[in-house]
Amino acid sequence: MAALTALTKSLGYHCAKRSKISTFSQNFPSHNSRFQTLRTLILEPSLSESVKLNRLSDYDSGIVEVNLDRPEAKNAIGKDMLSGLRHAFEAVDRDSSARVVMISSSVPKVFCAGADLKERKKMTAAEVHSFVNYLRSTFSLIEELQIPTIAVIEGAALGGGLEMALSCDLRICGENALLGLPETGLAIIPGAGGTQRLPRLVGKSIAKDIIFTGRRMGGRDAMSMGLVNYCVPAGEAHSKALEIAREINQKGPIAIRMAKRAINEGIDREMISALDLEEECYEQTLNTKDRLEGLAAFAEMRKPIYTGE
Ligand code: COA
Repeated sequence: MAALTALTKSLGYHCAKRSKISTFSQNFPSHNSRFQTLRTLILEPSLSESVKLNRLSDYDSGIVEVNLDRPEAKNAIGKDMLSGLRHAFEAVDRDSSARVVMISSSVPKVFCAGADLKERKKMTAAEVHSFVNYLRSTFSLIEELQIPTIAVIEGAALGGGLEMALSCDLRICGENALLGLPETGLAIIPGAGGTQRLPRLVGKSIAKDIIFTGRRMGGRDAMSMGLVNYCVPAGEAHSKALEIAREINQKGPIAIRMAKRAINEGIDREMISALDLEEECYEQTLNTKDRLEGLAAFAEMRKPIYTGE
């Protein structure tokens, strides 16, 4: 009897999961694009129902989307969501066919509301310590992915939500975005990279203003201070991000990885050592089939087809 109950529960779980997946697929926002008809989503199970990993296919294969989906808490990151994020980015890290990642939200008017403050209230100081360390290392994993990452921000990106976006290579927001690091208002400091990544991006003085005041900024202000790469009309951040992802996806994959490595690792070095690193990264592109394909395509006046070899 117990075995039967377990089997029934298991079947119910799988059926629920399947129907949730297909509902998500049907509800996924459509974006006007000449490639849209070719675009399909391959949804993968993750450890958390709140984080979906979607590999785009056909023309867009190589583009991966990590989608945040915890509407009841505005995508606030609790333990379950954090393990889902970790699982998703570790899967991306292992996937040699992935060429660019977009982090987006399926919850209207919010990218991510930061740490789950309701769950946090029930944690001991020791639990908070381990949670924040795990969050910080997960965002470092995002930053250290070899391929480019794009945060797609519509609505609120606050606290840990903005810190996640800061660990991406590019940030694209809608005009109605609301960005900020409100931690000092909760008598803590940004603890998942915010105090380090924000000043490196916008400079010490602006970062101090943002962190000391905890002020929430709109998309245009964020753009003017260099916090985001593009600010587009509300609702268009995803299509802009997809446009950028497609541009990157057409380039030589090894070249993109080496460019990211040269920039990320070189920025903290002295110029002489940084130029040595550039040389080392350039060397990695020299003996590749893709480099020869690039030259052949130029001579034949056609678009190159890169395979990542
Ligand atoms: N942790 C836990 N729950 C959160 C949350 C968070 N960080 N942010 C929002 N929620 C919950 C709300 O408590 C509310 O739950 P309820 O329906 O049980 O009352 C639900 O999500 C909806 O939030 P609400 O504030 O009604 O939505 P909104 O659209 O008016 O505003 C935000 C959205 C994100 C702007 C607002 O919720 C907010 O400012 N959240 C706090 C963000 C923050 O300070 N994060 C930094 C953490 S260090």
